Amino acid sequence: MTVDLLLGLQWGDEGKGKIVDVLTSKYDIIARFQGGPNAGHTLEFDGIKHVLRTIPSGIFHKNALNIIGNGVVIDPVVFQKELEGLEKFNMDIKSKLFISRKAHLILPTHRLLDAASEASKGKAKIGSTLKGIGPTYMDKTGRNGIRVGDIEMTNFKERYRALADKHEAMISFYDVNLQYNLPELEEEFFTAIEVLKTLTFIDSEEFLNQALKVGKSILCEGAQGSLLDIDFGTYPFVTSSNTTAAGACTGLGIAPNKVKNVFGIFKAYTTRVGSGPFPTEDFEEAGDIMAKVGNEFGSVTGRKRRCGWLDLVALKYAVQVNGVTGLYMMKGDVLSGFDTLKVCTAYQYKGQKITHLPYNIEPENVEPIYTEMKGWHADLTGMTSYTELPAELKAYIDFIEKEIEVPITVISVGPDRKQTIIK
Ligand code: IMP
Repeated sequence: MTVDLLLGLQWGDEGKGKIVDVLTSKYDIIARFQGGPNAGHTLEFDGIKHVLRTIPSGIFHKNALNIIGNGVVIDPVVFQKELEGLEKFNMDIKSKLFISRKAHLILPTHRLLDAASEASKGKAKIGSTLKGIGPTYMDKTGRNGIRVGDIEMTNFKERYRALADKHEAMISFYDVNLQYNLPELEEEFFTAIEVLKTLTFIDSEEFLNQALKVGKSILCEGAQGSLLDIDFGTYPFVTSSNTTAAGACTGLGIAPNKVKNVFGIFKAYTTRVGSGPFPTEDFEEAGDIMAKVGNEFGSVTGRKRRCGWLDLVALKYAVQVNGVTGLYMMKGDVLSGFDTLKVCTAYQYKGQKITHLPYNIEPENVEPIYTEMKGWHADLTGMTSYTELPAELKAYIDFIEKEIEVPITVISVGPDRKQTIIK
């Protein structure tokens, strides 16, 4: 019996999909615990590249069971497309993917509300993926939401109508010109609901705890990153769920004392998509190189990601909040070619040097203090063992481990499953 967690430590897009996929063969169950189709978990293997949105990243492995937990929000329309995208792989999805009855549904009007809310904010917009995430979690905490289990109730359509009507009234409250055709969106939604119904709905907290009792192992898969957590992220420029370790307990019904390892994923540099503070963002050539070499474009929205140096102040904070036991460093290969690398080890904050993440990290309050390190030029993408890595990269890894006080156990040197070095 093991429960391990795998989550992102920065602003998302750390490469969780790849690592879950790499680790899956060690687990019986992969369970997604929060977020929704705002996520885009990219997997590459055998020359195939695939992006998953709501479906856990263990779906491509023969024996793993995949569970969408109660903490996830599901858009049936996106989900249907996701299933269609998997058809070409000829898998028996229905036998290896179960959905929690307590997961909330994203309605078409949630997406519209997201768009209206963002448009009304003007320059202060969050930079949301506009997938209806915020409004759906608002309805969940406001106790108005509609859950997967409600699809099985006879009054599902009436419940849907009442909530959608309320949303329409709310949309008209915003002073924005939003064009939409709700009957069309609803037709698409109800068609997708029928597709969703072909899958098995479960009481997932019961299912998972029974699985643990009979000795099964579970990997809990997070989405987004710790700095986008609704409580601990750079609020209000965050997503609407708990992306940190505690979110796995509430998002799956697994007790904290059952969790063993917490694997934290970070990139060798930092990226952020959407608005919000980013102290180590690089507006010069280095940031452009990272974006270009790292192909830093959103897998869901296609937006260019903002790039900058590794921020150990923020990383340390995320490690602490999550209780990370092992670090996985991604995209080390993208840093090949720099003569000098910069690593932020402290902030200048209101005239003082600090090493913790303060309440406000807006640029007017925070200036990063960097340590410079020697870079490397070797191409890492074909390397398969730790001993092959350049001495400068090993020094970079040692430096991070010393600062963070957690070992880096995996170094990823390319997008493919095989480009993964275990230290
Ligand atoms: P929302 O969750 O779609 O409302 O987006 C809120 C903020 O989180 C925006 O800045 C998004 O760009 C960001 N965000 C949401 N999901 C992801 C993700 O999977 N990766 C990276 N950023 C994300």
